[in-house]
Amino acid sequence: MSLISAIDLVKNYGTKKNPIKALGPVNFEIHSKSFTLILGKSGSGKSTLLNLLAGLDKSTSGSLIVQNKNLSTLSQRKLSKYRANIGIIFQFYNLLPNLNSIENVMMGSWAGGVEGTYEYAEQLLKDFGIDHRAKANVKTLSGGEKQRVAICRALVSQPEILFCDEPTGALDSTNERQVIKILQGLSQKGLTIIMVTHSQEFRSLADQIIYLKDGLITDHKNFNHQQIPQEEPNPNHPSSPNKVHRNPDEPLPLTNSVANNDNFNIDPKINL
Ligand SMILES: Nc1ncnc2c1ncn2[C@@H]1O[C@H](COP(=O)(O)OP(=O)(O)OP(=O)(O)O)[C@@H](O)[C@H]1O
Ligand SMILES: [Mg+2]
Repeated sequence: MSLISAIDLVKNYGTKKNPIKALGPVNFEIHSKSFTLILGKSGSGKSTLLNLLAGLDKSTSGSLIVQNKNLSTLSQRKLSKYRANIGIIFQFYNLLPNLNSIENVMMGSWAGGVEGTYEYAEQLLKDFGIDHRAKANVKTLSGGEKQRVAICRALVSQPEILFCDEPTGALDSTNERQVIKILQGLSQKGLTIIMVTHSQEFRSLADQIIYLKDGLITDHKNFNHQQIPQEEPNPNHPSSPNKVHRNPDEPLPLTNSVANNDNFNIDPKINL
C-alpha cells in the first residue's frame, strides 16, 4: 500500500531570483511498513528530501501525497497533525542537554500529559537496555546510549513513520550494530522507516534504495520481500525501476526485546 508519493518534487533554497537547487524534480513512492534507504554523497540532497518527507520544510514545487492529501499545501494545523504521527532520529541525537534520559524521551510526546506516557517511556528505555540510566543527565551518556534515548524519544508517541538522518553516523561499529538491530526489529514489527545513511550495513534491511546525486534520483532499487523470482528488469529502459531480489545475506540476529515484544504495536493512524 502506497503511503507517500512524491510527484515532480522540487526544493530550491536561496531566492526566487537566485535559487540554489537542492532537490528535484524527483518521483517515487514509499509503501506502508517498508524500509527505505536514501543514499548519496554529501550535498546530494538527502537531508533536504528527508525534511520535506517529515513535514519540517515546504517544497518549492511538485507534490508530496500522503494518504490522498498533498503535504505541500497542507495547513499548519494539519501539518502538525502529520508530524504528531512521525518520529525522527538525527545523527547527533539532538537531546536536551540539561534533562535526564526519561525527560528527554517524554519530550518526544506531543501529548505528554496523556496518562500512561511516562510508563511507556520507562518501558521503551527498558526495551532498549538503558533503563538504568533513566535518571542520568544525558550529558553523562555515551554516544550509543544517547542514540538509544533518541530512538525512545522518537517512538514514545507511537509514530507510524520513523525518519532517520544518519542515525549511526556518530557511532562506533559496536553501537552501530546495536542500533541496526533495534531498527531491524522495529521494521519487522511494521514500522515504516525512511533512512538517510552512509552505512552499507543497512542495505540488507532495505525494501527499496533511492540513490541521489546532485538532487536527482540516479538509481532506484526495489527489493522483493518474498524472494519470489520476478521478471528480469530491462536495463535499457531508463524509467523502469531496477528490480533486484532482496539481498540474500543472512538477516541480523534479533536480540532486542522490542523486536520480540508483542505489546509493541504500530497501528496505521495517519488520518489528515
Ligand atoms: N538552508 C540552506 N540554504 C542554502 N542551501 C542549502 C541549505 N540547506 C542545504 N543546502 C544546499 O542544498 C544541497 C543539498 O543539501 P543537503 O543538506 O540536503 O545534502 P545532504 O545530502 O544531506 O548532505 P550531507 O551528507 O553532507 O548531510 C547542498 O548543496 C547544500 O549546500
Ligand atoms: Mg544531510
